[in-house]
Amino acid sequence: MVEPVLTDLPAVSLTDYAERARTVLSEDVWDYVDCGSASEVTLSANRRALDRVAVLPRMLRGVDTVDLGARLLGRPYAMPVGVAPMAYQRLVHPDGELGLASAAGAAGIPYLASTLGSTPLEQVTRVGADVWFQLYWLRDRALVRDLLARVVAAGCRALVVTVDVPVLGRRPRDLRNAFRLPDHVVAANLPDGRDALAHAGGPGVSALAAHTASSFAPALRWADLAWLRGQIDLPLVVKGVLDPRDAVEAVRVGADAVVVSNHGGRQLDGAPASVTMLPEVVDAVGGDCQVLLDSGIRSGTDVLRALALGAAGVLVGRPLLWALAAGGERGARDALELLAAELTDALTLAGCADPAAAAELRTLNAG
Ligand code: GLV
Repeated sequence: MVEPVLTDLPAVSLTDYAERARTVLSEDVWDYVDCGSASEVTLSANRRALDRVAVLPRMLRGVDTVDLGARLLGRPYAMPVGVAPMAYQRLVHPDGELGLASAAGAAGIPYLASTLGSTPLEQVTRVGADVWFQLYWLRDRALVRDLLARVVAAGCRALVVTVDVPVLGRRPRDLRNAFRLPDHVVAANLPDGRDALAHAGGPGVSALAAHTASSFAPALRWADLAWLRGQIDLPLVVKGVLDPRDAVEAVRVGADAVVVSNHGGRQLDGAPASVTMLPEVVDAVGGDCQVLLDSGIRSGTDVLRALALGAAGVLVGRPLLWALAAGGERGARDALELLAAELTDALTLAGCADPAAAAELRTLNAG
């Protein structure tokens, strides 16, 4: 492991945390967080496409102070941002899920708790943030039912079903590293021992991919989501759609929101950047559900871009893991404060008093 070289200077952009995380994480954990699938074309497309979205600012709109508040799934949040669901957060720092959820609570935004969390859901909800539970549909439907009962009992505010992981995308960096979970990091929401494969592996094998293949149900249909809708009386979010026709299916089964996402470039390589599909999805659902965006968000400017293209909000993933890795809960809190400051600046410069006003902005493809 490289000696930590942490600077005392405050981070001035979320990407500063990437450099800091890189110095403290072992190479295989860094690769697991950083990597995309296959040739990582979709991973880099996310950034390129966001950079190409030019937002036309409005002038002399009399904006004095900006209110970042936004309603997501009918609840008021301090900004139109949620913490993307990310597996095994104790891999990057002992504060893990509790640290990142506390930071979300302090920032007044929802924390999306992964099925593959390394801290039990019930401990995460106890930190006091609004928790939305992210469901990976397990082969064993009894386990799905158990999880749903726990989600309700723990007081989660929403259920987020990830639909883009029938199997884990092939991730060459994890395969080369023969990536597996260290003993102290467990799939804490699954019954004891159900994560054994994630700790095993061998040359050329990603233990996480093997574990996913054995645990996740690969052959889901929209009818299964309709079943799920009938099981639980919480707002339902469908995460991982790119094709507008899938967004329409999600609305049909009663979704309250969809997340336009390519899983941060970690699933189908060659899929388009999420932001490229956002306007078509927004058009297709026509106000019947909220549309969120993730994959590649790195700044307040990116949030503004998403809002201007019709998103109700965004999910932020890797930058918050970098900040957690670099500074634990404190690092994650600082990163969210920085993001709020950046979004305030971006809205002010665009002449918007709040996130809702950004929906009126025009955008151009900057080529
Ligand atoms: C899990 O969802 C991952 O992308 O590694």
